[in-house]
Formats: sequence, structure tokens, C-alpha cells
Amino acid sequence: MDAIQTNDTDAIIEADRNNVWHHLTQHKPYETVDPRVMVEGKGMRVWDARGKEFLDAVSGGVWTVNVGYGRERIADAVRDQLVKLNYFAGSAGSIPSSIFSQMLLDKMPGLDRVYFANSGSEANEKVFKIVRQIAQKKYNGKKYKILYRDRDYHGTTIATLSAGGQDERSAHYGPFVDGFVRIPHCLEYRNQFESAENYGAQVVAATEEIILREGPETIGAMCLEPITAGGGVITPPEGYWEGMSALCRKYDILMHIDEVVCGVGRTGKWFGYQHYDIQPDFVTMAKGVASGYAAISCMVTTNAVFDMFKSDASDPLNYFRDISTFGGCTSGPVAAIENMKIIEEEGLIENCIEMGDYCMSRLEELKEKHDVIGDVRGKGLFLGAELVKNRETREPMPEGEVAKVTAHCMANGVIIGMTNRSVPGFNNTLCLSPALICTKQDIDDIITAIDNALTAVFG
Ligand SMILES: Cc1ncc(COP(=O)(O)O)c(C=O)c1O
Repeated sequence: MDAIQTNDTDAIIEADRNNVWHHLTQHKPYETVDPRVMVEGKGMRVWDARGKEFLDAVSGGVWTVNVGYGRERIADAVRDQLVKLNYFAGSAGSIPSSIFSQMLLDKMPGLDRVYFANSGSEANEKVFKIVRQIAQKKYNGKKYKILYRDRDYHGTTIATLSAGGQDERSAHYGPFVDGFVRIPHCLEYRNQFESAENYGAQVVAATEEIILREGPETIGAMCLEPITAGGGVITPPEGYWEGMSALCRKYDILMHIDEVVCGVGRTGKWFGYQHYDIQPDFVTMAKGVASGYAAISCMVTTNAVFDMFKSDASDPLNYFRDISTFGGCTSGPVAAIENMKIIEEEGLIENCIEMGDYCMSRLEELKEKHDVIGDVRGKGLFLGAELVKNRETREPMPEGEVAKVTAHCMANGVIIGMTNRSVPGFNNTLCLSPALICTKQDIDDIITAIDNALTAVFG
């Protein structure tokens, strides 16, 4: 069979319908409607195969294209690198990984080593393996458990789903891996205690109870998103980080911050954890590192951790025996270098703060107007609006109703996101994460689309 021509739209859509299994998608509807095929992007906008234009308020659907579409500078740098050296296994270094590691660590005081891989899930698994290996080396195998938080997400593999606090994501995929222990979420709007007073301190106290129940001598690490993303855009309450960080120090627990979404500017700092007074032992990142121009993830840690893995060179198993084949692709770090330079040269972190504040104020206005908005949350250009059936009781809006809002926006050329099939009964938060290049006009257009959709769906 001849290859389909790139301009033969009907054939491309047909081949997609017949051959491609889309991510996170129920395919039955594609028996009667066309699957969407995206073909082009420029700045804040994307076009599908039928030529429909969209303003993208979610940076490629999942908080990824932080510097916007169509960056020739990144494409040029990747091309030049690919013709020079596209790949060599990560057991050797490369020019781009060496340069990028330096640029990255300059932004992360207290952290000293970068391990390259190619997805967020994979970067998180590196930490899980290191924690287990440290348990073997230092604690007779005992201190291997990893705490993870209700409503957080750390990836799609069986081990990262074992550390996942979103039961609809993991449903049907068990049995899971031993050694992961759930701790409470910290969403004050969904307070799980008798009163919400001193909410942060209450969550910390509930976490400490779990540590004591399990035995601190069994717990190696605590894995947390700085701001929970797909679990509902949850900005932790006052006192939370100080308390969690104190627990880690008190019980000798390593702190792993999952910056797969928040990392590289999304929240108005280079990293989400830098809003808080904490010093992690591990930071993982992926999506915004190269804005989707190449696949790359990084696991960053301290010399204190790294040095443990070179302590006894005579022991043949005493190093980190892990490889990520595509962690050796040079396209990832070379794209990441240009991505970081763009953020710096164009002042995109500053723009993120300014536009994030503006977007938050516009969401607050929408909340005044529409009773269905129960709560608005977020930091920088990482924002959410939780929809409720009743403001007094906070009864969550059913997922199907929330989906009508995103569908209305989509039909009108604006792509917004929502939490979906994640936390049972609470897939009711609209999500916004426009690229860090967005303007006031873009925000106004996004807000207008949501305003119109809320009116159309709920009156
Ligand atoms: C917080 C967080 N961690 C990890 C991941 C997994 O990243 P990946 O899909 O690149 O494996 C995601 C993906 O959405 C995420 O939101």
C-alpha cells in the first residue's frame, strides 16, 4: 500500500480512525464522528485537520507546551544536534546534557545531580528505585515505604499508579506494588476533618499519625506534587509545607517533589516547591522541560544521595543500575536548553506571574456571576475552577455536566481542560494552563468562552 500523502486529509482521518488508539479515550463515538487530528500550532493557537482554529488554554492538553507552538529556534537547535549526534546511551555524557544539567542546577540551589529519562512516570520510578536501594544499603531493606497523597498523580506505570491518589486512574489495573502508603489530601475546600480551622496543621497531624502507625523506620520517602494538578489544582494550605518538611526531618524521610506539571515556570517560579520554604531531596520534572519539542524528563537529587551510590566501588552491585534507553537522546536536552533560554530572554516567568494574577482575577469575577463556581484556585498560569451543584452544600457538579462546559468551549474554538476519571465523585474542576506567552487578550478570550459556556449549560 502506498503511504498516505500528508495533504490527503480524508485518508489521514480514516487511517487514524482505523489504526490509532488515542490516549485516555473511549473510541465508540468515532464510529459516527471523526476523531480529531491536530496538524499545526503557532504561538497560542492550534489547527485541526479540517482547518478549525483553536485558542489553546491548556498548553497541548496536558500542561506541556509552556513556550508556545512553532518555535523555530528550538526546531533548528534540535535539527543541528540530530545531524551531529542523535543518540548515544546515557552511560556516556553528551554536549547538550552536560550544558543543560548546569543550567538546570543553577536554578535549583541545594541540588547537585541530574538523571535524564523520557517521561514523568519514568523519572518518578527512578526515585522509587533509589529509595529502595538506599533502604537495602543503609537500613537492612527496612526503610522502603513511600508515602503518597490522596488526589495526587505520579504516572501511568504500575509502580507510579501504586503511588497514585486517584482511584479512577488506577481502577482495573491492579494488583499494585507493595510499599506505597496513602496520606491525606490537603484541599481545604474539601475539608475532611470536623472543622477546617488550622487546616494545614490538621493535615500534617493526620499524616504524622500514619507515619507512626506504619513505623517511621519503614518509611523511606514522601512523594508530593507541589500543587496537585489532575487531582483538582490543589494549592496547599498555610502551614502545610513547613509541617510536612518538619515531619521528613524528624523521621528521616526523603522528600520527593513531583514537578512534572509545575516545573520550569508554570506556577510563576522555576519550580513549584520554590514558593515554599522547603528543600527537597529529589525533584522530578518532564512536561515543560522542553515544552513538548522533544521527549525528556529529569530526576534531580543531592550529593548526599548521589554519593551513597559510589561509596564502595568494589561491590559490583553498589551503584544505580538503571538505564533509560531514550534518556540518551540528545534532542531532549538540546530542546530544553533553548526552551530555558526562551523563558529567560522573553521574561516568561514574569509574564506568567502577571497573566496568572490577571486570569485569577477574571476567574473571581466569573465566580461572582456564576453560582456553579464553588472555588477558584491555583498559582501562576496553573488555575482551576471547581464547579458545584450547590454553593452551600458544595455538592460537586457531576463530571458529565462539567464536560458540557469544556465541549461548549471547544465547539467555540477554545480548548480548556477539566479533571476527568480521576477522583471518584470529584471530577468537577475546570483547568486552565495557557502557555507562558499568553496575553491579556488571550485570557479575556478564554474567560469569555467559559462565561458563555457556563451560561449555555447552567443558565
Ligand atoms: C504530576 C504528574 N506526575 C507525573 C506524570 C506522568 O508523566 P508522563 O505522562 O510523562 O509519564 C503526570 C502526567 O500528567 C503528572 O501530572
